[in-house]
Amino acid sequence: MGYIDIHSHILPNMDDGARSVNQSLSMLRIACEEGIDLMIATPHNMPGKGCPDAELVYQNVEKLAELADREDLPIQILCGTEYYFREEVLELLEEDRAITLGGSDCVLVEFDPMVDRAYFRNALRDILGTGYRPVTAHVERYGKVLEDISLLKDLHKMGVLFQVNAASVVGDNGRQARKDVKSLLKDELVEFVATDAHSDGRRAPYMEKCAGLLYKKCGSRYTDALLFGNAEKYLL
Ligand SMILES: [Fe+2]
Repeated sequence: MGYIDIHSHILPNMDDGARSVNQSLSMLRIACEEGIDLMIATPHNMPGKGCPDAELVYQNVEKLAELADREDLPIQILCGTEYYFREEVLELLEEDRAITLGGSDCVLVEFDPMVDRAYFRNALRDILGTGYRPVTAHVERYGKVLEDISLLKDLHKMGVLFQVNAASVVGDNGRQARKDVKSLLKDELVEFVATDAHSDGRRAPYMEKCAGLLYKKCGSRYTDALLFGNAEKYLL
């Protein structure tokens, strides 16, 4: 079974991710070598980083999938978006105009790393209120939220899903991130481990090393869920 990467910036020239079609293809080649067989393209939707309209995202995914196919790369690409949370995102959801993860009822949302606890909680509750299910991107980044993970436990019970980055699992984002991820995994608060890949260099779609570590530390049942099972369950 191949891994499913639910968070990646593989579309060319849309945000701070892939800089060209060639770089997108190079990222896809790396992903295949790393054992990934399905990627959800999640360009930023954030004032200042780009807010591409839905049609452009769909078109670009189609184009990239076609090029990957021509190269016989054994990888599937689906549409998504990483929304920087703001009021406008709630409006998009209420009007069913948001780009969800693979067309599911789940939407990937990120926050400012300094987000305070009340804002974080209210935002995620408001998203649930629209009938969509929020997937919180790289939850290990939000220091104030992590000060007391009872908040994450409560939100999790309400139906909020959490994603962590593969780089944080292996320690490439520093000791604190690795430690925080470890405790979130211990409590099984995380649904998805994703690459959040931005390039074919330092932030390439690396997964193999992370997968090895997870299978060793978290066991096969939970690791299978983190790397593909939950994606199949919630998104496909
Ligand atoms: Fe991202």
